[in-house]
Amino acid sequence: MDEERIISGRPREDDAAADPAMRPQTLREFIGQRVLRENLEVYIQAARQRGQALDHVLFHGPPGLGKTTLAQIVSRELGVGFRATSGPMIARAGDLAAILTNLERNDVLFIDEIHRLNPAIEEVLYPAMEDFQLDLVIGEGPAARSVRIDLQPFTLVGATTRRGLLTRPLRDRFGIPLQMNFYEPDELEAIVRRGATVLGLEITRDGAMEIARRSRGTPRVAGRLLRRVSDFALVARRSPVDRVVADAALKRLDVDAMGLDAMDRRYLDCIARHYGGGPVGVETLAAALSEERDTLEEVIEPFVIQKGLIQRTPRGRVLTESGFRHMGLVPPAREAGAAQFDLLDPRADDGDEA
Ligand SMILES: Nc1ncnc2c1ncn2[C@@H]1O[C@H](COP(=O)(O)OP(=O)(O)OP(=O)(O)O)[C@@H](O)[C@H]1O
Ligand SMILES: [Mg+2]
Repeated sequence: MDEERIISGRPREDDAAADPAMRPQTLREFIGQRVLRENLEVYIQAARQRGQALDHVLFHGPPGLGKTTLAQIVSRELGVGFRATSGPMIARAGDLAAILTNLERNDVLFIDEIHRLNPAIEEVLYPAMEDFQLDLVIGEGPAARSVRIDLQPFTLVGATTRRGLLTRPLRDRFGIPLQMNFYEPDELEAIVRRGATVLGLEITRDGAMEIARRSRGTPRVAGRLLRRVSDFALVARRSPVDRVVADAALKRLDVDAMGLDAMDRRYLDCIARHYGGGPVGVETLAAALSEERDTLEEVIEPFVIQKGLIQRTPRGRVLTESGFRHMGLVPPAREAGAAQFDLLDPRADDGDEA
């Protein structure tokens, strides 16, 4: 189901063709994430001046916010080589060794979905990250011996949607952890207008803003909605794309005023109607919606939480007043104190399962 959603931050097949053209190539071209970008700029410049490898960088945040894009930009700005792989792709320690021994001085090695790295391989990665050394066991049984190989200094850039799933020792070895946040509408508006230029599409400021406001704070979604709106405009012979055209197209795509799609609304509706607004545990919700728990936690929840439509409490998910209102429902009167108590509970962020 998720793969079909136009609003999903996760990549889909039709993104592959369009993404490269819309991808910013330098830090200057990269829109949004201002604080992160400014810090990164300093670290990169310092590494260049010292002629050393940049410290290891970890990008974490919801899908489609630009982690892969930034990883590529980092290597380009450093003026070094870029090698990309992903956690699930590295099956054996030998695979990782082959990659590491082929890196040149100060290169960037990008490992996407680093939370899905196999634990045995993580062990190989620790000394590589810390001392640029590889400890390999050669042979088996009594004849087995361990050899130590020196590596060129390199920068590991990791990306993950689930920082919490990284083991502590791995997390601690990243000197530069950077959290990616959802984008503001005016940043997305700039991204949409830049995308329109790439597509050769005429769009007004209002039109771009309408798409931006409904893109779930996510550049990948903005690019995708822009392409679909552009299809509608072409067939309807409407140019430039203005607010009315964008709104009509987005309505047909079933994207609402806040940028929620049918699946987000199904999720909110389920909590509202079947569980009286919660609290309800995420496993229960996943079963009720026939969705993977991961999809709920990685794709749907980060945005509806940020928008204040639901809250995570130790006893499960709770629909907020604005959540009820957004669904056109009247919030029930809660017993005094119950909801507030959860808000103050320090465990409210981690233990979700009720
Ligand atoms: N700041 C930005 N400005 C313009 N376009 C952006 C920006 N950030 C991301 N994009 C565009 O959004 C799309 C998704 O970006 P990217 O692939 O880097 O996301 P990601 O965080 O790696 O996602 P995932 O977690 O799914 O791997 C790309 O097409 C990219 O061009
Ligand atoms: Mg990516």
